[in-house]
Amino acid sequence: MNHILTGGQFADRELLEKILDKAEELENLKKKNTLPKLLDGKVVATLFFEPSTRTRLSFESASVRLGAGLISTENASANSSAFKGETIEDTVRVVEKYADIIVMRHPESGSVARGAPVSSVPIINAGDGAHEHPTQAMLDTYTIKKEMGTLENITFAFVGDLLYARTLHSFLPIISMYPGNRFYFVSPKELSMPDEYKKILTEKNISYTETTDLDEALKNSDVVYMTRVQKERFKDLPNYEKFKDMFLLKHEHLKLMKERSVIMHPLPRVNEIDPAIDADSRAGYFRQAENGLYVRMALLLYSLDII
Ligand code: NCD
Repeated sequence: MNHILTGGQFADRELLEKILDKAEELENLKKKNTLPKLLDGKVVATLFFEPSTRTRLSFESASVRLGAGLISTENASANSSAFKGETIEDTVRVVEKYADIIVMRHPESGSVARGAPVSSVPIINAGDGAHEHPTQAMLDTYTIKKEMGTLENITFAFVGDLLYARTLHSFLPIISMYPGNRFYFVSPKELSMPDEYKKILTEKNISYTETTDLDEALKNSDVVYMTRVQKERFKDLPNYEKFKDMFLLKHEHLKLMKERSVIMHPLPRVNEIDPAIDADSRAGYFRQAENGLYVRMALLLYSLDII
């Protein structure tokens, strides 16, 4: 079995490409209505201690479509025994008796990984605080490959709250494996990409530019990845107010962008992308959300060594 805890564990081209190829195969089967029930007889537990729409429902849909049964707590902080003071380790020790895979989201960095040593079933990190969100990073990688036809020689603009953007923290170790990629980090200084993730790039001699000039980044980028300012991570609200509307992608920005480029966002969006952009073919964020289903099917199979 394989726990899925970090993006870095997929920084292995052979493994990554095996999972992306499986996701593509599953996408084609899904579209032909011929998905095999590869998880028949298995039970998947989703334990979410933080709000979620896409991540939880796409994991649940992926499980059901592959024939698994499902047990779920969607507001585990209030509705599970965590509310009574149970530790994550104890919760996992119990849930592993009921389920064959545990998908967990929790507000504390590093918390989901604490379940791994006490679990005999795979634990999948569906987001641990501002730390990591590896399954989102995998579906982002799949989306880029599909949209751009390659994972190499791409210029990225990461825009918004890079300090707390766990999806990007997991994505950097993966995408930095591929040659020729360049990065613009567009954020206020206070929300800049943490040093530990920038180090992944400097160690590989990959160039990146930290800037507040959105227009310049848009002109030069192939993938524009917008992020929500993570209100729930701010200790003081006035600071959140200061940054929350700082980078809004407006319809007039489209003319600055390359003809062949894609706009991504892990969603939910709050005020980062004007809905007037949605009709443009470069708006990839709803296609990205759809890809979550295919990639999470592949990751569920990987967690149980079925691929
Ligand atoms: C992201 C998350 O939870 O980190 N959403 C998601 O999983 N699709 C991004 C966010 O909440 O802003």
